[in-house]
Amino acid sequence: MPSVFIKTYGCQMNERDSEAVAAQLVAKGYSLAKSEAAADVVLLNTCSVRDFAEQKAINKMQNIVGTARSEKRDQITGFMGCMAQSRGQGLIDLLPDVDLVLGTQKFHRAAEYLDELLTGKRAKIVDVATEARSEATIREHLLNGSAKTSVSAFVSIMQGCNQHCTFCIVPATRGEERGRTIPDIVAEARELAARGVREITLLGQIVTSYGRRSTNNLNPLAPQGTNGEGARGRGRLEDVLLTPAFSAFGEEREKKSAFVQLLEAVHGIEGLERIRFTSPHPKGYGDDLVDAYARLPKLCECAHLPLQSGSDRILKLMHRGYTREKFLTIIQKLRRARPGIGITTDIIVGFPGETEEDFEQTLSLCREAEFDNAYIFKYSSRRDTPAATMPDQVPQATREERNQRLLELVNEIAGRKYDAFIGRRVQILVEGPSRKNAARYTGRTRCNKIVLFDGGERHRGQLLDVKIECTGSFTLYGDPAVVNL
Ligand code: SAH
Ligand code: F3S
Repeated sequence: MPSVFIKTYGCQMNERDSEAVAAQLVAKGYSLAKSEAAADVVLLNTCSVRDFAEQKAINKMQNIVGTARSEKRDQITGFMGCMAQSRGQGLIDLLPDVDLVLGTQKFHRAAEYLDELLTGKRAKIVDVATEARSEATIREHLLNGSAKTSVSAFVSIMQGCNQHCTFCIVPATRGEERGRTIPDIVAEARELAARGVREITLLGQIVTSYGRRSTNNLNPLAPQGTNGEGARGRGRLEDVLLTPAFSAFGEEREKKSAFVQLLEAVHGIEGLERIRFTSPHPKGYGDDLVDAYARLPKLCECAHLPLQSGSDRILKLMHRGYTREKFLTIIQKLRRARPGIGITTDIIVGFPGETEEDFEQTLSLCREAEFDNAYIFKYSSRRDTPAATMPDQVPQATREERNQRLLELVNEIAGRKYDAFIGRRVQILVEGPSRKNAARYTGRTRCNKIVLFDGGERHRGQLLDVKIECTGSFTLYGDPAVVNL
């Protein structure tokens, strides 16, 4: 049977999709190759969020097909995921050696299409069509393929995003919001727990909107034209959740959103010790979700809360649906519900029209919010998004300069936060040997900080108390001996 090499760009959703494709191919008898040069099939799972990510994947593919041609190797190559979805046939026009372009609703067809290509039944395949119920097809796990995944696993709960932030290409690449049902997700999480997984991360582009929209457009029972906006969607959310087609999401009990009901259902699974999720949207942080942090002990005290900008004017232009004050209030509430909660964020600098004053608002919000870490992105113009044609595009040099200034501030605050851990005892879930230094073992605290310590295989999968001795760049160094005599 052939061997396959999959390289993944971008977010955790992409990592999860790649894992599901790998598991699907392994089940058909494929082996996993150690490098692209050694593989019969090479797939690049792509990201479109910024132009840089697209260019990286295109350059990589150019190298792969160029090397295979010069070495006269027969190799099947394909793009899948977000860039495959948004560029389609255009990718084969650009790189005629590429054989397969697989869109974001077609991952489950990878084995079937590769079979057609390998047997010569078809020469090229481009499939970027929509497919009903594709959200429920990211299910298979490759638990033994990687040390980390056998302890901690991702579970995809929904696909797509309807928020349409004006800078973002994701609604175009991932499509409309479509959620899996609670029983389906719980069944997958239960299976994982039975296989030794102790921590799961629920994944989606906008998980706080889980269950607010139709499961798929072809469902005859699905209500038409529902698009529950607002903190808990009130009237419209009821329309959706109380329709027979949606009973599987859970009815709106005690004003709890479907997402909180899902958290509760997963929380009940025996063997699972920790639950995380990403990414939520600040507008979906209703009191029911804040309350869930206080009530559900397995829900880890960490939140990735994408801010994007600290200026109300820019937030409005971005179509984010919250204000600076609302964002800060959520953070306050979360810290009250779970003291010590780790809060990280995403910020874009140089969005069209962003003035020095707007940027200073972002700096001041960061000082106030004291994030544990922030991923900073220089605004990148994306095709067919409203921001691409907005006036006052910010010069590249200004984007660069703001990126540097914000990075310095974020690092300074994060450095202080990490240093405060020195001397403290924390609980970590041990994932396995460190990728950079196999003599060290690695785990994460409940608030999602990486801890390195001198460990061994006996520690893998354990919840271990360690004492933090010192810190590195976004890393804590711990000593288990001090507390586990
Ligand atoms: N809800 C998704 C968003 C995916 S994009 C999630 O959080 O996973 C991830 C981050 O990329 C966004 O939060 C945003 O900060 C950044 N981003 C998205 N589009 C961008 C663009 N056009 N230019 C620069 N950064 C962008
Ligand atoms: Fe993109 Fe905004 Fe959705 S950042 S993924 S459109 S919440």
